[in-house]
Amino acid sequence: MNVYLDNAATTPMDKEVVQAMLPYMTDFFGNPSSSHAFGRKTKTAIELSRRTIANLLKCSPSEIYFTSGGTEADNLAMHAAVNDMGCVHIITSAIEHSAVIKTAQLMSERKGVKLSLVKLDERGTVDLGHLEELLVANGKSFVSLMHGNNEIANLLPLQDVADLCAKYEAVFHSDTVQTMGHYAFDLSKLNIHFLNASAHKFHGPKGVGFIYISKKSKVSAEITGGGQERGLRGGTENLTGIVGMAKALDLCYTHLAEHQVYISNLKQYTAAQLEAAVPDILFNGDSRSVDSLYTVLNVTFPPTKNADMLLFLLDLEGVACSGGSACSSGATKGSHVLDAIGALRAGQASIRFSFSRLNTKEEVDFALEKVKSTCLQAETVG
Ligand SMILES: Cc1ncc(COP(=O)(O)O)c(C=O)c1O
Repeated sequence: MNVYLDNAATTPMDKEVVQAMLPYMTDFFGNPSSSHAFGRKTKTAIELSRRTIANLLKCSPSEIYFTSGGTEADNLAMHAAVNDMGCVHIITSAIEHSAVIKTAQLMSERKGVKLSLVKLDERGTVDLGHLEELLVANGKSFVSLMHGNNEIANLLPLQDVADLCAKYEAVFHSDTVQTMGHYAFDLSKLNIHFLNASAHKFHGPKGVGFIYISKKSKVSAEITGGGQERGLRGGTENLTGIVGMAKALDLCYTHLAEHQVYISNLKQYTAAQLEAAVPDILFNGDSRSVDSLYTVLNVTFPPTKNADMLLFLLDLEGVACSGGSACSSGATKGSHVLDAIGALRAGQASIRFSFSRLNTKEEVDFALEKVKSTCLQAETVG
């Protein structure tokens, strides 16, 4: 048996999504910018996909722009805030995805924008009092704080942060890559400038995502060329990706409550079983709480001599999980998120288990057996 418990890195595509995409690879292949019938057909498919997504999120289709994924959308929001919306100060946190942190650091170095990191407690909870102090003490600010943390499952109180940002006229972006498709968003009520998504995190295709850019935001072209995406992003659209993403999000929303309960139960069951079987196991961040992102569980095992090998040994046993976020080089270096909350412990392995609606209880039981045997057989230090 092979069990995949790394769904925060990416998810398998839903077969219905694949079916929705197939005709756009063969029968309907026209360039959406062509004025003939072939082009009009695919242009219509793109606009219908945009409308599907906008209807689900309760915003206008003109506020949805397609991108190559979450990273590009994060970059776009940050560049827009500084280049087009007059922000002179970036506030983010040390547990953001590298797409946000690295971009913030680069913008600070290259553009001389001041960069502040909001305080977090030992569980990774954002200190809203400190956020307000930073907003008060600085010029026009751009706030980028993720909705659901991909490693430690903390959830940001989006409405509270949005209200605070509105009070100080700050530009607010939330990376919603891990929560899109898992929670309902009502953008007719949420006062936010930007949020973003990546289709492969919710059973859609890789290499496609979108950014919500509220009407009150100002954004200039990111990629110039043929004027696609209303001039914001030139280049022939990822037609099949866009069609697949809209279908994937639609499927998520249709069964949202059911998936939430199902996946939450798998996570809570795994946590309880680990707690009972592994003495002194630690849960990182907020991930053990029932109010955390219900797809992610992050644990640290007691000290063992082969802590560095644990992920590898589990992989050999057929269990795929991760030590943190997926890294492009494939290397496992210490997680910057665990480091930021003081949860990186020498000689102890930390593992992130992340679940999806396609996992079964049998798979989880298989994984738990392998985790228990691998961890308990490992020679304990001290
Ligand atoms: C929170 C978060 N933001 C951004 C990204 C990047 O998304 P993409 O892979 O679509 O560029 C990821 C993916 O790991 C993520 O988890």
